[in-house]
Amino acid sequence: MSQRNSTPRIHPDGTPWRNFYGRIRGKSLRPAQEARLSDLDHLSPGPVTHAENPDRTPLDLAARFGGKPVWLEIGFGGGEHLVHMAARYPDIAIIGAEPYVNGVAMLLRKIELAGVSNLAVFPGDVRELFDVLPDGSIEKAFLNYPDPWHKARHHRRRFVTPEYLGPLHRVMADGAHLRVATDIPDYVRQTLEEVPPAGFAQLDQPMDQPWDDWISTRYEQKALREGRFPHYLTFTKEAR
Ligand SMILES: C[S@@+](CC[C@H](N)C(=O)[O-])C[C@H]1O[C@@H](n2cnc3c(N)ncnc32)[C@H](O)[C@@H]1O
Repeated sequence: MSQRNSTPRIHPDGTPWRNFYGRIRGKSLRPAQEARLSDLDHLSPGPVTHAENPDRTPLDLAARFGGKPVWLEIGFGGGEHLVHMAARYPDIAIIGAEPYVNGVAMLLRKIELAGVSNLAVFPGDVRELFDVLPDGSIEKAFLNYPDPWHKARHHRRRFVTPEYLGPLHRVMADGAHLRVATDIPDYVRQTLEEVPPAGFAQLDQPMDQPWDDWISTRYEQKALREGRFPHYLTFTKEAR
C-alpha cells in the first residue's frame, strides 16, 4: 500500500484531512448578515478548531452551559428547528453544527428574533466538533434531512456511515435519543442498516408520525411541495 493510502493526511495546522462534499457558501450575503457572522464568538460552544484548540482538549460543557443537559443538531440548515428547540426547552442547551455560511446567517437572524440564549453554534463540519466533545456528553441528537447523496456510488458520503456514527456514538450519553428525519426511502434503508450496528436500538414508533415537539424544517417543506414524504426514526444509544 502506498504511503498516501496508509497515512492519514493532515493539514499543516494539524487538522485531519476530511473530504467535505457539501456547499459552504451560496448566494452573496447582505451587509447585515455579514455583520452578524463577524460576531459569532459569544455563540461558540468553546474552542473547537485546530487553530483554537491544537491539543484537542475536550470542551468544558458544564462551565459553558451551567450544567444544563446538552443536545446537538447536525446540519441545522436555516436553523428553524434549532431555535424552536432552544425556545421550547429553556432548561437544556443545544449546539448546532452547520458549515453552510448562508444557513448560519439565517440562524443568527432567527436567534435575534426569538431572543434565545441557550444555544451555541459551531459554523463547521460536525466531525471537527465530535473530536472535542467529551464522551457521553450529548443527551439528544437531531439529524434532520441529512444530505441525500442519491447516486449509489455516493452513498458512503451519507451521515449514516461508520465515519460519522462511531464518533456520534462516543459523544452520546447511554440511553440518549438520536432522531433522524428524511424524505428519501433509500436513506431510510441505509439508516436502518447502518445505525443499529453502530450501537443504537430503534424505538418502536410509527415512521410517518412526527415527534410531538417537531417543527417542520425548510427542507421538509421543500420535500412536501415536491411530493416526497417525511419519515421519522428514533434510536436510543446502547452502552457497548
Ligand atoms: C438537506 S440540508 C437540511 C437542512 C436542515 N436540517 C433542514 O431540515 O432544513 C442538510 C444540511 O446538512 C449540512 N451538513 C452536511 N454535512 C455536514 C457536516 N459534516 N457537518 C455539519 N453539517 C453538515 C449541510 O450543509 C446542509 O445544510
